Amino acid sequence: MGRLSGKVALVTGGAVGIGAACVTRMIEAGARVAIADLHDDTGHKLAAQLGANARYLHADVSVEAEVAAAIAGTVAAFGRLDVLVNNAGIAGANKPTHELTEAEWDRVQAVNVKGVFFCTKHAIAPLRAAGGGSIINLSSIYGLVGAPDLPPYHASKGAVRLMTKTDALIYAADHIRVNSIHPGFIWTPLVEQHLGAMGGDVQQHRREVGALHPLGHMGEPDDIAWGVVYLASDEAKFVTGSELVIDGGYTC
Ligand code: NAI
Repeated sequence: MGRLSGKVALVTGGAVGIGAACVTRMIEAGARVAIADLHDDTGHKLAAQLGANARYLHADVSVEAEVAAAIAGTVAAFGRLDVLVNNAGIAGANKPTHELTEAEWDRVQAVNVKGVFFCTKHAIAPLRAAGGGSIINLSSIYGLVGAPDLPPYHASKGAVRLMTKTDALIYAADHIRVNSIHPGFIWTPLVEQHLGAMGGDVQQHRREVGALHPLGHMGEPDDIAWGVVYLASDEAKFVTGSELVIDGGYTC
């Protein structure tokens, strides 16, 4: 018996990076997992590699109708929903606050905040029907501490942290646990793009940013995926409203 045997999960933004690691580790632990993403080719390929326990569904988390269809599609494919991993996120514009446009601000909130709202909203009915479940929200170290860049992103991750606690309280009586994960820098396409936009040698930036973590390097997607497997499993049955910080000591 795997740690997630019998469970069905939906992972948003599951085609690459942290989301793809979550999908892979959850399936290895015995779950059946739907991947919702915009990267259709990559998502279909990953699902094909992982076999019958994976399914790819196109969904933009900032569009309510697409979210509703992805959740209905998960239940249609696998019969139930036990776990929602709100992982899809974007870094957005890297400008100081006074230079940001309203559209740049709104796009980050639409994906990182409204996306979590839409997915949670539409997951509640199937999670209740399953007798409870687990919602895992990807916040960030920047939902805990500040940084002098990416103002819309950091605002969005702070919002996700408190949406987690509020929903943990609202749905505790339904046995739906809601927790946030706060990764330090994890080497993924998102971080590679962010560091690439700084100009210069990306690998040098990678080492410098890695050195900001007391453990001396960036994390890898599996470091977060193992936390997701734990929070999704019954081992975490008394854990709700918590903040799981996986950051190599960055916020100590
Ligand atoms: P990534 O950019 O490598 O992958 C994100 C995935 O989300 C992609 O497959 C992308 O297509 C998908 N996505 C983007 N917008 C979407 C939308 N509107 N609807 C559906 N899917 C969408 O990102 P990464 O690094 O794997 O990050 C995953 C989550 O972890 C994000 O929420 C991010 O903010 C958070 N995080 C990442 C950290 C890192 O260092 N990589 C650190 C802290 C938090």
